[in-house]
Amino acid sequence: MTRVIGASLLGVDGVAVEVEVRLSSQLPRIDIVGLPEAAVRESAARVRAAIASVGQRFPDRRITVNLAPANLRKGGAALDLPIAIGILAASGALDPEPLQRLGLLGELALDGRLRPVRGALALTLAARDAGSRSVIVPALNGPEAALTPGVQVLEASDLGAVLRYLLEATPLPIARVTTPGPAHPRVPDLADVRGQERAKRALEVAAAGGHSIFLWGSPGSGKTMLARRLPGFLPAMEFEEAVEVTRIHSAAGLLDSTSPIAVERPFRAPHHSTSSAGLLGGGNPPSPGEVSLAHRGVLFLDELAEFQRHTLDALRQVIEQHSVVIARARTSCVFPAHFQFVAASNPCPCGWRGSGVRDCRCDDGATARYASRISGPLLDRIDLHVSVAPLAWSQIDEPSRGPSSAELRARVDACRALQQDRGSGKGFRTNAEIPDEALDRSVRATTDARRLLGAAVERLGLSARAARRLLRVARTIADLAEEEEAGPRALAEALGYRATELGSASAAEARATAADRSTADVRGWRSV
Ligand SMILES: Nc1ncnc2c1ncn2[C@@H]1O[C@H](COP(=O)(O)OP(=O)(O)O)[C@@H](O)[C@H]1O
Ligand SMILES: [Mg+2]
Repeated sequence: MTRVIGASLLGVDGVAVEVEVRLSSQLPRIDIVGLPEAAVRESAARVRAAIASVGQRFPDRRITVNLAPANLRKGGAALDLPIAIGILAASGALDPEPLQRLGLLGELALDGRLRPVRGALALTLAARDAGSRSVIVPALNGPEAALTPGVQVLEASDLGAVLRYLLEATPLPIARVTTPGPAHPRVPDLADVRGQERAKRALEVAAAGGHSIFLWGSPGSGKTMLARRLPGFLPAMEFEEAVEVTRIHSAAGLLDSTSPIAVERPFRAPHHSTSSAGLLGGGNPPSPGEVSLAHRGVLFLDELAEFQRHTLDALRQVIEQHSVVIARARTSCVFPAHFQFVAASNPCPCGWRGSGVRDCRCDDGATARYASRISGPLLDRIDLHVSVAPLAWSQIDEPSRGPSSAELRARVDACRALQQDRGSGKGFRTNAEIPDEALDRSVRATTDARRLLGAAVERLGLSARAARRLLRVARTIADLAEEEEAGPRALAEALGYRATELGSASAAEARATAADRSTADVRGWRSV
């Protein structure tokens, strides 16, 4: 009996699979056991044709292929290559000894070519952890698989090349990570948006500190337009982040040979008709949802009130835990889901409540039902709340005065550098991620600022969670101004992004806070 190391995907993680092959002298046939799914059962036909195509003899005996561990369902076609090599080794055509430290993955075409597989990075990691010193992967998967530290990744374009490597020691090319420079996605510029200086400033703070943000206001005021411009000034992903995103997107089949590595921060904007499973992940076998595809990037829920209430309730937990657990009878999968949350909504069904431009046609009951779909506890978990008022004609008519995306990106990058220094070795990259225990030390709020916060907590009835979120936002505002301590000015601005109430505040009041972010203004507001 021979053993070969392969791997199979479970959610977005790879699991090492030992492919055991035994030949016996019964009537010729091939059995694959160990919970193979359809694609793996069909492997037999592909392997038989591929072996014939390279001029090797397919053994004329009874072949049993066992995939261990037996309790795990194995899907995908990446097991073709280890099965083919296992059969050849069992029939004596190959020396089984070097196979003990060699991982193999790839789908075989009938003519012996190796086709790329989903989740190459996750599979290579699993093969490494199972003791492989090198892993042979389809050539097109090379750049992605090469992200795996601590293992040599070899590229092969067909079964023939793998056999020449094993039989004649003909070298295979070593896969290299091709690191494209920091990509900034081609999104439209913030300078296209006229007016809305306050919302632009809030987006700057959100991007700088990784904070979640909620934009609300009447239809056509530019909420969607503003949110979609965020990727244009987010900082580039770091290497470790790119590896995490690549692993998930590759497993979900979102990467291809033209872009084998994820370089841009994800920006996911699922429609409000998206199912719970589509948003959070699900299915059998479990696959990642939008929250996981947005990992290390942005999840944008436009028309937030139109999403199903129970979906939004489940989202709350994901926002706090940064991951989703999907339990199935045999296994449970953990999908990472650490994203920046961005949401937008109208204040009421007709959209004009409090706009000061048109009369709202909704009765109080309808507005209350609408607002209640976005639960208070969800809003409590959002750092910045900004009302986006309809533009006056004078603003529509004049050119944009706000910063361009490039200007914001420079400020955001500088601000992130400060946060990196603060968080390095302490496990956080952004101010939004500062853990509770490190909050006082990291934020360094002045006595005046703390007094202001205390007053606001009492007057606005802020939750403890909201108060802590405010401190993190104030830290980012102080960082943007390169201030060591978070003073009353930073705290008052942070409070200004909190003191709005969906469905009741009028645009005139919102403008008043924008004009003067002092405590006096804060007093009359009820917090969400
Ligand atoms: N502040 C603005 N500056 C320039 N154009 C705007 C602005 N607000 C709205 N528009 C125009 O109106 C359209 C609709 O804006 P949108 O962002 O979809 O509004 P909302 O999401 O608030 O309903 C935009 O595509 C743009 O053409
Ligand atoms: Mg919109």
